[in-house]
Amino acid sequence: LSGVSSLDTFTDEETMLRDAVKRFATDVVGPKVREMDENEMMDPAVIQGLFEQGLMGIETSADHGGAESSFTSAIIAIEELAKVDPSVSVLCDVHNTLVNTIFRKYATKEQQDNVFGVWLTFEKLGSFCLSEPASGSDAFALQTRARKDGESWIINGSKMWITNSYEAEIFLIFANIDPSKGYKGITCFVATKDMGIQIAKKEQKLGIRASSTCTLNFDDLKIPAENVIGGEGKGYKIAIEILNEGRIGIAAQMLGLAQGAFDKAVPYTYERKQFGQPIGTFQGMAFQIAQAAIDLESARLLTYNAARRKEEGKSFTKEAAMAKYWSSVVAQRVSGQAIEWAGGVGFTRETGIEKYWRDSKIGAIYEGTSNIQLQTIAKFIQKEYS
Ligand code: CAA
Ligand code: FAD
Repeated sequence: LSGVSSLDTFTDEETMLRDAVKRFATDVVGPKVREMDENEMMDPAVIQGLFEQGLMGIETSADHGGAESSFTSAIIAIEELAKVDPSVSVLCDVHNTLVNTIFRKYATKEQQDNVFGVWLTFEKLGSFCLSEPASGSDAFALQTRARKDGESWIINGSKMWITNSYEAEIFLIFANIDPSKGYKGITCFVATKDMGIQIAKKEQKLGIRASSTCTLNFDDLKIPAENVIGGEGKGYKIAIEILNEGRIGIAAQMLGLAQGAFDKAVPYTYERKQFGQPIGTFQGMAFQIAQAAIDLESARLLTYNAARRKEEGKSFTKEAAMAKYWSSVVAQRVSGQAIEWAGGVGFTRETGIEKYWRDSKIGAIYEGTSNIQLQTIAKFIQKEYS
């Protein structure tokens, strides 16, 4: 943990994991960050390194090739990776908190051991395909359809904004098998790239540019009948229950990002002198830095509180929404201030500080926009008070 935090509730195993991820992020990811951002492409060696480090199956049982660690460990990994590169962080986050969790929680033992066995050894990158051109916040209005054809399902439609999809080999696709039932027809299917997934477009983005985001088209995509996870019509519940957990991951990504920007800019303010003194010692600057430290600590406390509540089997949906909302605010604020603290130097691409700010914007958009988080929190408040 950075020196500004007093949060000290981690187990020895979690602290060791944090140190290992920090080393990997600094030594392996660090030297590639700028090049990956400018090329808008993830380096395959980074993905391979994440698998080799055991960071792509953090919570999964050892039987299935995973590290069998806590949910908090997965959150720690996301935070530490984001301090160095939020793109690498979200790649790992989608794979661990969305894709692996669906396999772990909703696949039957038969599916885990036999049908999807090889995928659970985590040699293949996964993606979570829910959003579509006409259904983002209104995710359950999705238009992708699946129909049964003998021993197969045939899927038609398209998905938009799918993280990891350029490099992925596993695709969890949400499609409706019976629109007359509304969202209760939504079902979760597992597809692999070789079944005929078509990438229609790779987005060019403001931030997290090394993380791939693509539109996928499904044109009579044929999937074996046994590749339904969690049962027919259960897809909507799987999607939102997993997103409740995933939102803690995005909170951690935004927290790590904000801390990364802070860690880069603050030392500079004690080195750089103007008017004969370090700029960080002017009260105007020192108070901004202190306020940013409070922002960071509040985001950290919300994030790890939500993670621990989830881990302990307590209700956590409201806390996850609060953590994601607030960490996204903090990420934008602190990374924006970090640029100002470094002056002109902060505005150049050389220091990498401006990249944190560009990357921070996505926190308020994906895995449920900030308004969707507020709506979730408001529903809890209304239930509690009316
Ligand atoms: N937790 C559990 N269940 C929930 C829930 C929550 N947070 N929100 C809604 N539900 C359930 C309801 O209980 C209801 O189920 P039942 O009928 O079984 O009781 C059902 O969902 C529908 O509820 P509503 O009518 O209240 O929901 P809605 O249709 O107005 O919207 C929603 C529901 C689509 C989940 C919306 O609130 C939402 O979260 N939209 C954002 C979608 C999103 O997060 N997309 C992320 C895509 S993945 C991604 O972005 C990854 C990445 O970038 C890296
Ligand atoms: P809209 O839903 O059109 O929202 C636009 C604006 O309207 C927002 O400000 C929103 O808050 C507001 N709004 C909408 N409805 C309401 C309401 N009821 N009340 C108040 N305000 C409202 N999706 C996946 O399935 N898998 C992925 O891996 C994935 N990765 C992504 C990666 C990136 C880089 C991006 C940009 C998106 C990704 N998404 C992914 C999609 C993401 O989840 C959606 O973009 C997000 O849910 C918002 O949907 P939308 O873009 O259609 O915006």
